[in-house]
Amino acid sequence: MHENKVIDESKQGEALMIESTVKGGKKLFLESYGCAMNFSDSEIVASILKDKGFSTTQDFFEADVIFVNTCAIREGAEQRVRKRLTEYRKAKKTNPDLIIGVLGCMAERLKSQFLEEEKLVDIVVGPDAYRSLPELIEIAETGQKAVNVLLSKEETYADIAPVRLGSNGVTAFISITRGCDNMCAFCVVPFTRGRERSRDPETIVNEAKELFEQGYREVTLLGQNVDSYLWTGGGLKKENPSTEELQNATTFAQLLEKVALIHPDLRVRFSTSHPKDMLDEVLYTIAKYDNICSYVHLPVQSGNSRILEMMNRGYTREWYLNRIAAIRRIIPDAGISMDIITGFCSETEKEHQDTLSLMEDVKYDFGYMFSYSERPKTLAERKYKDDVPSEVKSRRLQEIVDLQVKHSAFRTKQGVGKVHRVLVEGTSKKSKEELFGRNSQNTVVVFPKENYKKGDYVNVMVESCTGGTLIGKAV
Ligand code: SAH
Ligand code: SF4
Ligand code: F3S
Repeated sequence: MHENKVIDESKQGEALMIESTVKGGKKLFLESYGCAMNFSDSEIVASILKDKGFSTTQDFFEADVIFVNTCAIREGAEQRVRKRLTEYRKAKKTNPDLIIGVLGCMAERLKSQFLEEEKLVDIVVGPDAYRSLPELIEIAETGQKAVNVLLSKEETYADIAPVRLGSNGVTAFISITRGCDNMCAFCVVPFTRGRERSRDPETIVNEAKELFEQGYREVTLLGQNVDSYLWTGGGLKKENPSTEELQNATTFAQLLEKVALIHPDLRVRFSTSHPKDMLDEVLYTIAKYDNICSYVHLPVQSGNSRILEMMNRGYTREWYLNRIAAIRRIIPDAGISMDIITGFCSETEKEHQDTLSLMEDVKYDFGYMFSYSERPKTLAERKYKDDVPSEVKSRRLQEIVDLQVKHSAFRTKQGVGKVHRVLVEGTSKKSKEELFGRNSQNTVVVFPKENYKKGDYVNVMVESCTGGTLIGKAV
């Protein structure tokens, strides 16, 4: 789950504001970093505060409250937040009553340590404690520090209607699970987001229906591992459900189907699939419905089985390639993307070559590629040495990125000369006379506007392309 392609982390942390009609009251400045799940959480936060009469501002010098929703996935993500906090500090000088709060994964990871280190932070709130935000603000207003980093086994915010932030009015995220039970050796998420729990399918379907009625035409179902979605009546996935409970349960494939059945004009996407849990059943459901997009994001992390074992990913190179073969067999036109981590503990040159050769086999449509960044408390930090020198990591990452650029160009070219059904998301950044949208495979398509508009489905005959964008004309 990412909002930025390839490795440009600097694009993370786009400021998103609430377009609220509430006048007066207190002013909130809300900024989000990290993955789609975090952006989706910010929409919950916005909803909770809007109910308390908050309006928003795009200028943090004007704010009564500044909230930054943070990411802890890599060292770099945290450094960016620290830098931002020193900028907020300036606003504190002109407005001593200003309240600054740190939300999200970095808040959860550092807990009250945050208050000690960052003297100018007043509130620290973890991802499962957003319902307590109004109280915490009240405490902070009396000059005390306020912390709530309790993780929950039940919280899914199922009853809160998110305020859509920075929305194009066409596409929206819906969280279907929270937390993660997987314990990949490199990953901080199980520590920052707690145990995995699934959200009541009825509330998911209702949220999607409401979005459709408001004019939205695409929903992306979000979870760290969507394939392990399982609703057995309670929030926390039961360790050993009985046969009866399983018969009445909703699986991810069944949930996808329920959402797809809302309306043929509502596109359904999902992220992220996990290779160890992605079953053929899900692929058959995708193939069965035209409005479930032919696109799977299937992080591989490494092409070498020894490294995968050390990463505790739960699959081998062969298993992963078998899952790719299943996608190609069941959904022949599918777009496939990946995540790769290079330079994980003890990775040899030959093992790095295995990652390149796996990429050569799959020829991904696109990918998100990272250098390994050691995270405190994780299995890898406790058990292994972060022993690949940073120059080696950078060189390997560059080789991976270069190869992916080649493969993206190859895949994009395959789309030329064909008609693509495009959901229009807005006006192209380059020209007001052009619209842009995505095809089912998630590739961006640009074409002359004519009389089409945002939210329309348009059949576009693609005539040319750049590295990652298709260019054509409506037919
Ligand atoms: N739940 C998703 C991934 C969430 S994090 C999944 O299992 O695929 C997004 C990506 O960040 C991961 O897929 C991984 O490629 C990368 N990542 C996670 N921890 C990292 C670390 N410590 N160093 C570098 N990259 C990391
Ligand atoms: Fe992290 Fe692994 Fe869970 Fe993904 S599946 S969030 S990489 S622990
Ligand atoms: Fe997402 Fe970053 Fe947390 S990737 S789950 S915001 S650590």
